Amino acid sequence: MPEPDAADRSRSRLLQQRICQRIAQAGGWMAFADYMQMALYEPGLGYYDAGGSKFGPQGDFVTAPEISPLFAQAIAEPLAQAFGQVPAQVLEFGAGTGALAQELIADLGRRGCAPRHYFILEVSADLRARQQQRLAGLPVTWLERLPQAFEGVVIANEVLDVLPVRLFVRGRDGVYERGVRCEGERLGLEARAADAGLAQQVTAIEALVGALPEGYGSELCALAPAWIAALAASLQRGLVLLFDYGFPRREYYHPQRAMGTLMCHYRQRSHADPLWLPGLNDITAHVDFSACAQAAGAAGLDVLGYTSQAHFLMNCGILERLASRLEPAQVGAAQRLLSEAEMGELVKVLALGRGLSAQPLGFTRGDRRHRL
Ligand SMILES: C[S@@+](CC[C@H](N)C(=O)[O-])C[C@H]1O[C@@H](n2cnc3c(N)ncnc32)[C@H](O)[C@@H]1O
Repeated sequence: MPEPDAADRSRSRLLQQRICQRIAQAGGWMAFADYMQMALYEPGLGYYDAGGSKFGPQGDFVTAPEISPLFAQAIAEPLAQAFGQVPAQVLEFGAGTGALAQELIADLGRRGCAPRHYFILEVSADLRARQQQRLAGLPVTWLERLPQAFEGVVIANEVLDVLPVRLFVRGRDGVYERGVRCEGERLGLEARAADAGLAQQVTAIEALVGALPEGYGSELCALAPAWIAALAASLQRGLVLLFDYGFPRREYYHPQRAMGTLMCHYRQRSHADPLWLPGLNDITAHVDFSACAQAAGAAGLDVLGYTSQAHFLMNCGILERLASRLEPAQVGAAQRLLSEAEMGELVKVLALGRGLSAQPLGFTRGDRRHRL
């Protein structure tokens, strides 16, 4: 692993001290979800709030909008279509560097349907400041909370996979929850008997996939369905497009996926130790898209499509765009967005909506809603 510089090490040490204080106050153990919340979002110290370049080749990981403008140009298709039915407004969650917003506004403008308003809801003060610098002069407004009665299109790329998750382990005599302890200078994981709520959720998973083997560990994200429910309450009419690494529930909790999907990213390396230098790594877990679709249905949203990123982008005409101006760099970028071994199959797209008369573009071939 590349060596962090002295400033990063000292920031991570400060965050770890704060985590240990919180653990001590809580009686010596903190649920992993609370640790993940602090490691990623603790004001001024957490990964997403402390500055530093996260995105792109110089950062820790690369997201689709950073790979190529072709991603935004493809998404512009269903947005332009939706703007025939709802006001030309976009609400983007977790806009990262602002790359997607910038290219979407430009591309929709070239098509003659520039959004009248582009709203961003971003939890990281540091990233918000960077977005404001990049998007200065464009019709972008940053929100502090969900708007009321929003009409338009909502997008979120790789936001659900950075919501804190609970870690569970199937034991012989019951379900356990992994949490974090502080031992002197070191953080360690320790499993305790799960509370009734978590145990019930694991039982529901087993009712679907069969008994999980002893020692099987995975994650559960209670925040994702809650996030969808809150979004549904704020959406009066419109389309929601969610892009993320993930699976339907049956595949997520397949008995052979016995170690879950938790993954950390540091300077373009992936590793599996979320306790290593807290605050310096991104920590992610795949999304249970069945849980998201269920939460959407329960909140009165229509589930309009579910497919892989590759199918979605091809249905939106990415290859035709590419062919119209063949540049070697863009060919490589499209390969990364579409390849089965890279993002093409691992990232999925879930479309939700309310009050729309037409099916959104992007799902004509390869719609997998039946698997949710
Ligand atoms: C992995 S980055 C993805 C950034 C960008 N969407 C992209 O594709 O490059 C996750 C982003 O989501 C933001 N975020 C995390 N939780 C959020 C929440 N609950 N609401 C809004 N933004 C959130 C982070 O601050 C960050 O900007």
